[in-house]
Amino acid sequence: MQIFLDTADVKEIRELATLGLVDGVTTNPSLIAKEGRPFREIVAEILSIVDGPISLEVVGTEAPGMLVEARELAKLHKNVVVKIPLIAEGLKAVKQLSQEGIKTNVTLCFSACQALLAAKAGATYISPFVGRLDDISVVGMDLVRQIVAIYENYNYATFVLAASLRSPIHFVDAALAGAHVCTLPPAVLRQLIKHPLTDIGLERFLADWKKVPTDR
Ligand code: G3P
Repeated sequence: MQIFLDTADVKEIRELATLGLVDGVTTNPSLIAKEGRPFREIVAEILSIVDGPISLEVVGTEAPGMLVEARELAKLHKNVVVKIPLIAEGLKAVKQLSQEGIKTNVTLCFSACQALLAAKAGATYISPFVGRLDDISVVGMDLVRQIVAIYENYNYATFVLAASLRSPIHFVDAALAGAHVCTLPPAVLRQLIKHPLTDIGLERFLADWKKVPTDR
């Protein structure tokens, strides 16, 4: 499974990329706004740190405008994946972009019907938002399971990118469901590494090691 970072925080991306486990980055307008810096400046830095798919979202809501934005974003770098919202105009844009060979990540997916249409339009990635469904008392992970099953039924090439993941449990469940990619906030990626028994065990090993007589 691939791991993407879901952030526009360049400092975090730079630090976590040193793990050698970050395959890509996803951003959205809210994450960009949080940084308080110009979009292009942030994007250039992210592209220089991670050599993998970098999702950048369009803000137009009509297909022609989305296409203009998407082509400009795609020109920035070969790794750019254009994030398009799952609305009718978005599906039209995705269909056209797939014919032009521009990679897309169809975002704000909240139903299996939407996901099937995105795959049919030729989306490179589909992003079901797990946490936001959980927020309204719908089990978000069920959607990931449905999409994986439907795509397998028809051999769709679209990758399932589990998004809006907020905990290690989300990560494990997405892996069990067969998601191809999990995009994680930096704090969640850090949580995946940590286990209290690892820390206690290591502390004990190191303390015991000090009791070993030195070879002399
Ligand atoms: O990748 C989508 C993600 O950024 C949304 O996460 O936590 O705002 O629902 P969240």
